[in-house]
Amino acid sequence: MLQDSLALAALDVAPPRPGVGTIAAPRPESLPVAAAPVLLALDDVSLTFGGVTALANVDLAVGEGEIRAIIGPNGAGKSSLINVVSGLYRPVRGRIRLAGETFSAVPTERLARLGVARTFQNLALFKGLTVLDNVLMGLTSGVRSGLFGQVLGLSAARREDAENRESALAMLDFLHLAGLRDRSAGTLPYGVQKRIELARALVAQPRLLLLDEPMAGMTLTEKCEMTGFIRDARDTYGTTIVLIEHDIGVVMGLSDRVAVLDYGRKIADGTPDEVSADQAVIDAYLGVAHDEDDEGKL
Ligand SMILES: Nc1ncnc2c1ncn2[C@@H]1O[C@H](COP(=O)(O)OP(=O)(O)OP(=O)(O)O)[C@@H](O)[C@H]1O
Ligand SMILES: [Mg+2]
Repeated sequence: MLQDSLALAALDVAPPRPGVGTIAAPRPESLPVAAAPVLLALDDVSLTFGGVTALANVDLAVGEGEIRAIIGPNGAGKSSLINVVSGLYRPVRGRIRLAGETFSAVPTERLARLGVARTFQNLALFKGLTVLDNVLMGLTSGVRSGLFGQVLGLSAARREDAENRESALAMLDFLHLAGLRDRSAGTLPYGVQKRIELARALVAQPRLLLLDEPMAGMTLTEKCEMTGFIRDARDTYGTTIVLIEHDIGVVMGLSDRVAVLDYGRKIADGTPDEVSADQAVIDAYLGVAHDEDDEGKL
């Protein structure tokens, strides 16, 4: 399906898949793309699982304020890349430069302080909690003053609770979720739950937001809304966004630059126009690059 959509995007033909349309929102012309200071860089990063190579010598630079898409066929290594940046996976080689620091593996306990937040490919909400409580989970700083509050009897914990609540309510407003704040998250439609996840990731106003398929499984209307919210997040908060997405229409309309992975290797990197015209990308999506000699070579 993805193959078809990219090939057709390259040929400028509408995709045939029922229920999955493209979003042709125009991309702003004057964006800080390659000229922006680099907030995140992967240098020669490789990651293996037993005999499987998930990432092979991947270089990637993400500029401050950029919306950077990562695309590629299933199993190409997209989630692995985000998992490396968010410290869940430790690369076997290479370096990750993040917010001015260099790591061989990103320490998860420092993610919040480094200004990194993420969402997951599969929904990871607390379905029994309210929408507001789910969003509050994105504000972790309460732990410290909570301890001080208990030990020293200060009002800091209460003050911090109030501030967190205010931030969470503001984020619910921003993402048009305010009317749902007391609803149990698990009872809401899938597209709304994905938006709650975005709210939880964005509430601490991260410098870098990693979104693993934020629009998977959404209707066209929900995708249009989500596209707008992601762009608004960048424009309002200056958030740098790395986005994995299969819908090529979304990618072309929303991203400043697109990196393409295939079998763990980066096979193309450039503006949406450059990437959609790249023969290696078209071949990878059509499957013609993977002849029998390539089978299993990762
Ligand atoms: N925890 C893991 N243990 C073993 N193998 C893994 C693990 N995570 C990823 N892999 C393997 O690494 C490769 C890349 O997987 P990854 O999930 O990064 O792909 P992807 O591009 O996100 O695919 P999809 O579009 O299906 O989400 C695959 O071969 C996958 O099976
Ligand atoms: Mg994935």
